[in-house]
Amino acid sequence: MYNSKITGLGYYVPDHVVTNDDLSKVMDTNDEWIQERTGIKERRHVNTEEETTTSMGVKAAKKAIERAGIDKNDIDFIVFATLSPDYYFPGPGVLVQRDLGIDTVGAIDVRNQCSGFVYGISVADQFIKTGMYKNVLVIGSEVHSRGLDFTTRGRGVSVIFGDGAGAAVLSREEDTSKGILSTHLHSEGQHAEELSLIAPGMGKRWVSDILKDNDPNDESYYPHMNGQFVFKNAVVRFSEVIMEGLQTNQLQPTDIDMLIPHQANLRISQFVQKKFGLTDDQVFNNIMKYGNTTAASIPIALTEAWEQGKIKKGDLVVLAAFGSGFTWGSAIIRW
Ligand code: UT7
Repeated sequence: MYNSKITGLGYYVPDHVVTNDDLSKVMDTNDEWIQERTGIKERRHVNTEEETTTSMGVKAAKKAIERAGIDKNDIDFIVFATLSPDYYFPGPGVLVQRDLGIDTVGAIDVRNQCSGFVYGISVADQFIKTGMYKNVLVIGSEVHSRGLDFTTRGRGVSVIFGDGAGAAVLSREEDTSKGILSTHLHSEGQHAEELSLIAPGMGKRWVSDILKDNDPNDESYYPHMNGQFVFKNAVVRFSEVIMEGLQTNQLQPTDIDMLIPHQANLRISQFVQKKFGLTDDQVFNNIMKYGNTTAASIPIALTEAWEQGKIKKGDLVVLAAFGSGFTWGSAIIRW
């Protein structure tokens, strides 16, 4: 058995900055409400046709591969997490294989929304642990802005989400006291519709009927979120899954050097910080700049924390996420 360790990190966000004031020009919202409830000051939106979930993922991946000090052809497998793929199918994993010009390695798409990156890390980790692969590329990338309702009707959702991509290379580590110590994954499909995008889907409607109706007021094409219900579940599940990870490794909250929570809401991160008695330096947040970038939020935050020298060799780094599904998960890493 081996461990896997993160050997390279990268992220990419579009240049186009959208402030809270920008949003207040197109819908009934304001900077004070958004900052007070979420901590978000601005987010990025794609503003060229060339920018897609795949293209941003490729940019993040190139940085991660370069920093891992390997050649792109050393990648044995690709894991791509997103809820906003370029195409309904095929998923972006194969598009990355094509666009990076990597040989015919396997590519898998992970559909676990805000927990997508933690699920992706877990998938990569299992392949490396068994010895099947040596280097796995994990990407989280999202283009939310093309799918949001930027009228007052959609304000409870559309002010929160932003576009961006992050990537990590996981490589074989022979010392099993280092790298990814454990991952913990959960789901509760009972609440699937509480945070969901119902259409386009093959669940109930024929595509030919959808096209025939073409109803501009059909809200099923926009994400729906029962915000308060999601919030209440998030704070409980974040705490549970971090504790589960610590207990599995006989660790205490005081052992945490850096917590990278999925950037869902600054208030959620602050709640978790308080619950585990962590200082401001032990929790990394960047939701202020990017909003909630779903599967991309953890790899973007992890990369920024690492670039800023906030993660050092030997540190105990904890990743934790909660989101649509509901799904949630954590990863306990000895850096
Ligand atoms: O990443 C996946 C997981 N996602 C999350 O964890 C998100 C969890 N939920 C949340 O972060 C919060 O529930 C939100 C930030 C989404 C909403 O905050 P809230 O404090 O739960 O607000 P609310 O939905 O209860 O809405 C309060 C009021 C409502 O008006 P009334 O009914 O009290 O008159 C809303 O219509 O705020 C109104 N409102 C807004 N006002 C200005 C909703 N969105 C906006 C807006 N600007 N953008």
